[in-house]
Amino acid sequence: MLNAAEVETAMRRALALAARGPAIGPNPRVGCVILSAGGAVIGEGWHRGAGTVHAEVAALNSLPNPDAARGATAVVTLEPCNHTGRTGPCSDALIAAGITRVVYAVADPGDDSRGGASRLAGAGVVVEAGVLENEAEAFLHTWLTSVRLERPFVTLKWASTLDGRTAAADGTSRWITGTASRQRVHEQRAASDAIIVGTGTVLADDPALTARGDAGELLGHQPIPVVVGERPAPAGARLRAHPRGLIETSSRDLAAVLSGLFELGIRHAFVEGGPTLASAFVAAGLVDEYLIYLAPSLLGGDRLAIGDIGVGTIGEARRLRITSVEQLGDDLLITAAPPGPVTPLSHPTGPLERNA
Ligand SMILES: NC(=O)c1ccc[n+]([C@@H]2O[C@H](COP(=O)([O-])OP(=O)(O)OC[C@H]3O[C@@H](n4cnc5c(N)ncnc54)[C@H](OP(=O)(O)O)[C@@H]3O)[C@@H](O)[C@H]2O)c1
Repeated sequence: MLNAAEVETAMRRALALAARGPAIGPNPRVGCVILSAGGAVIGEGWHRGAGTVHAEVAALNSLPNPDAARGATAVVTLEPCNHTGRTGPCSDALIAAGITRVVYAVADPGDDSRGGASRLAGAGVVVEAGVLENEAEAFLHTWLTSVRLERPFVTLKWASTLDGRTAAADGTSRWITGTASRQRVHEQRAASDAIIVGTGTVLADDPALTARGDAGELLGHQPIPVVVGERPAPAGARLRAHPRGLIETSSRDLAAVLSGLFELGIRHAFVEGGPTLASAFVAAGLVDEYLIYLAPSLLGGDRLAIGDIGVGTIGEARRLRITSVEQLGDDLLITAAPPGPVTPLSHPTGPLERNA
């Protein structure tokens, strides 16, 4: 029997393997280590993205010979799935290979994929949950939040002066923050599945909404741009030439929009404003993470980062928890989150159409 320290070491390795997978797309990043009865690492695998084998199968495939799995322990960061999608259920693959013990960190919340642990236990495999659960929860926070809420994890970003203004009296706003901040925003875009803006921003700024590097080159992953609002983007809008196409919602119903994006496989949405749309997301309690770029300048006036969020009195203030503060050039990046759990959506709808 393996001891707890050996299993924890293997779980740390499985988390490190999981981090090699892509952080974007519909599937979670998962890692798996297979230990022999004597505690030696005999197999390793991780999920390389949608349409490729899951971590458990990758680890089984890496064994020196198929018989090596007999009597072995699989240590995996997420409960093995019980779902036949583009690949078969991992629980069945582990049973068929002769694995006798499975240890995992976090339960799979997916409607289609959960249930692997009971399938394994039903086949006589010893199953243990919750090893390094906090670490795995933190690592998979974005994906787990999205799947639990059945909507994308929402990051809201804005850039403002120290007095919370996003534009001068004449509407000019380029640039409030410095190059280091703006480059970080491009990297954050590239780490998301979708960028969301309101129709007001499209009409005012005609943004390209691509994720670009220092020299203006397109980064490897481009999130899909989504325009929220009833008005269409103009025929000649730069967004219409976006490499991923464009999603226009023709709706202000944020819950319905997010449900539709979830159906399209979008697990992480990056909301870039403007102020009206940002306020609506905050008011609806649909923000999971705030990225607030603060530049050391003052503009005064009434062009605020957010407007009415439904707070009438100080006791109703939306309290946030600051999770990090970072200096970028002369600017500060404050990352914050709501203090408690977020409520699930009340009215999911059908998928959105994408004009590719
Ligand atoms: N500093 C920054 O970080 C930043 C970022 C982005 C933009 N901006 C600036 O913001 C300015 C545009 O501001 P804005 O507030 O007019 O733009 P916005 O928030 O992008 O768009 C507002 C429009 O979104 C639509 N909308 C969609 N869902 C809505 C909802 N749930 N509630 C209300 N409206 C909804 C409405 O138009 P429909 O009639 O079409 O439904 C509304 O008029 C630009 O000047 C831009 O430069 C600054």
